[in-house]
Amino acid sequence: MILGSIRTRLALGFLVVALVAVGVVTLYVLPSLQDQLTNQKLRALAQAARTYSGPLRQAIGSNVDEKTVDDEVRAAADNANARVTLLGVSRGTEGLSTYVISDSTQEVDISDLSFDVAQETARTGRAGTGLESGDAGRVGEAARPLRYNRRVARVVVFSQPLNDVNETVSLIRHRILVAGGLAVIVALLAGLLFSGPLARRVRRLQRGARQVAAGDFSARFPINSRDEVGQLARTLDEMQGQLGQLDSARKRFIATASHELRTPIFSLSGFVELLLDEDLDEETRRAFLVQVRDQVARLRTLTVELLDLSRLEAGSLELRPEPTDVGVVARAVASEFLPALSTHGSHLELRLPAQALVAECDPERLAQVLRILIDNALVHTPPGTDVVVAASGGDGQVALAVRDSGPGIRRADVERIFEPFFTSDDVQGSGLGLAIAHELAERMAGRLTVESQPGQTTFSFELPA
Ligand SMILES: Nc1ncnc2c1ncn2[C@@H]1O[C@H](COP(=O)(O)OP(=O)(O)OP(=O)(O)O)[C@@H](O)[C@H]1O
Ligand SMILES: [Mg+2]
Repeated sequence: MILGSIRTRLALGFLVVALVAVGVVTLYVLPSLQDQLTNQKLRALAQAARTYSGPLRQAIGSNVDEKTVDDEVRAAADNANARVTLLGVSRGTEGLSTYVISDSTQEVDISDLSFDVAQETARTGRAGTGLESGDAGRVGEAARPLRYNRRVARVVVFSQPLNDVNETVSLIRHRILVAGGLAVIVALLAGLLFSGPLARRVRRLQRGARQVAAGDFSARFPINSRDEVGQLARTLDEMQGQLGQLDSARKRFIATASHELRTPIFSLSGFVELLLDEDLDEETRRAFLVQVRDQVARLRTLTVELLDLSRLEAGSLELRPEPTDVGVVARAVASEFLPALSTHGSHLELRLPAQALVAECDPERLAQVLRILIDNALVHTPPGTDVVVAASGGDGQVALAVRDSGPGIRRADVERIFEPFFTSDDVQGSGLGLAIAHELAERMAGRLTVESQPGQTTFSFELPA
């Protein structure tokens, strides 16, 4: 839990970066620095050997006494500021070997150093450099051959301890470790410091989200920055707004639906009570029964419509799209309305093209949408209002239009007529027809729109061909 928090993770992240930086410096930079310093020292030694080994040539030969040799060696050592060792070369049966003749420290029995570099120089006749570990630590050596009668008779070795290189490097290592330790502490503190406010902001969002999840839509998500957390807050805020809207729409829907269902049920029970009265004359009884029939019919349509709408909104209504001739469907639906048309004293005109107009849709549901539209064109208009159903095609689309010459829909209501339960006149409808038609149109990848003015209202239903 603690390890999983942003705070710890960020602090640990900072810590790891600091540790990696210190590790890279100590493991990679320091050794290469040591090599560089050592090479530099060897180059300086080789240079000193080149410069100061010249006079030592005079110390070769059988007529030179030991003291002169020692003096020359010491002079070279003083000049070069290095230890100078003069070695003789002997070529025995067992091969080539070197032995110390003179050393600037006046030590001749040198046991800790083997002067391998001198041996190499004696063999090849070329100057060389090398490293060796002696009692006093690592030593850098530069050897030069001294020739006598064209042969390498002596080898002079200039050597210097590498202590200072080691000291420099260990001093730097120490400093780096101290600085690294400080960096690690600073990284840890900075990580905790930076992540604190971030973690607090995330926690605040979490609290808000929990509130919303618990159904409290008053929670606010403060959008106080443009960073990712700010964007998250904005998204949560929008989501909360939409959830709030959905929630109130749902509550409204349930309230209206129960009200719509309650009204006919109450009126039914009232009529049934009245019918139980035995003193009723036949005519009144008939009138009550007609009322009962109408209320039952209303209840039936209402429940079917409510079921349709809830299935549509839940996405569980299954559509069976197939190539459908919309002209055929329009003609069939129009013929269903013949009795209603004659009661209403209206005429329905079908304007269909000669050739078949095929759209990819569920013919049953297309018929349902047309029924809803034609029903409205008759129910919400005065008797005698004519209706036109037209179909046209083109541009990969098929368009159906249901037009009536009724009084039209008020401008303010036009935007709301597709909402469930919305009705804008006194006709006793439940206000679900257009909501269902609109949902169905969307499910068929089509579009249902309306244009209305006094004297002409047109519902257009566009479908992909
Ligand atoms: N052709 C039209 N002319 C005038 N008003 C219309 C027309 N079609 C729809 N309306 C208005 O839009 C409202 C919503 O229509 P909708 O079909 O959704 O519900 P309804 O017809 O009232 O009830 P039902 O669910 O029984 O169809 C109607 O109450 C009516 O006021
Ligand atoms: Mg209707």
